[in-house]
Amino acid sequence: MSKILINWTDAYSIGYSEIDDQHKKLVEMINVLYDAFSQGAVDNVIEDILDGMIKYTDYHFKTEEKYFEKHSYSDAPAHIKQHEEFVLRVTDFFQEYKKGSETLTYDIMQFLRDWLLNHIKDSDKKYCAEFRKKSIVEL
Ligand code: FEO
Repeated sequence: MSKILINWTDAYSIGYSEIDDQHKKLVEMINVLYDAFSQGAVDNVIEDILDGMIKYTDYHFKTEEKYFEKHSYSDAPAHIKQHEEFVLRVTDFFQEYKKGSETLTYDIMQFLRDWLLNHIKDSDKKYCAEFRKKSIVEL
């Protein structure tokens, strides 16, 4: 049976389906990584999952940032900075992992989970609140 690190609940939903679907996909990717980690998967498998996760994260962040611009989100610079710092941190880890100087640990898994869920709960919900105030029904 697959091991699961994050159980998606509606509490993580921000109410814009395109973004919710992307968040669900990210949660699924973290769970796939966690399952591989728990099973002691070989480095190549972990690398492929990490690579896909980083690419999809980048795609997701770009999607949000496109809407920040489209709807003139007032706190866009601070939000984009959070995205950039996360990408930098995970990309750094990935480079070190590929060199063999870092290993995937439960602490890293916890970091991924906590960062994503806190970011959705605090930062993503904040832009959604502003969008709703502006009566934006569809992104
Ligand atoms: Fe859903 Fe700002 O990341």
